[in-house]
Amino acid sequence: MDITKQRRIQEHPILGSYEKGRVVHFTLDGKDMEGYEGEPIAAALKASGVMTHRYTAKHHKPRGVFCAIGRCTDCVMIVDGIPNTRTCITPLKEGMAVQAQYGVQTKEEWEASQEAKDGE
Ligand code: FES
Repeated sequence: MDITKQRRIQEHPILGSYEKGRVVHFTLDGKDMEGYEGEPIAAALKASGVMTHRYTAKHHKPRGVFCAIGRCTDCVMIVDGIPNTRTCITPLKEGMAVQAQYGVQTKEEWEASQEAKDGE
């Protein structure tokens, strides 16, 4: 999502404004996204309205940011091919490839495993 259309707090009544990094581009499941360099990946996603980061392995339930301090693992995603990356504490960089996580797999891998199970 274009950064000018994102929903962000520009000036907080108590904390004031904050210094942002430069605008960087990344992808979410192949879709072009924008955020500020150095902010948590989860913050850039949230500003674009993305709430679901992963789906649980057993019941396929959606999960997103919960603790936002790197303790719960609800925000984990596949970042540059690395699964279980805590997006609430991982700084955003130019060109990152972020993918929703299904169990510990990509959507394509998860769907293939489900088809294999159905075939048994
Ligand atoms: S939201 Fe809990 S580890 Fe990221």
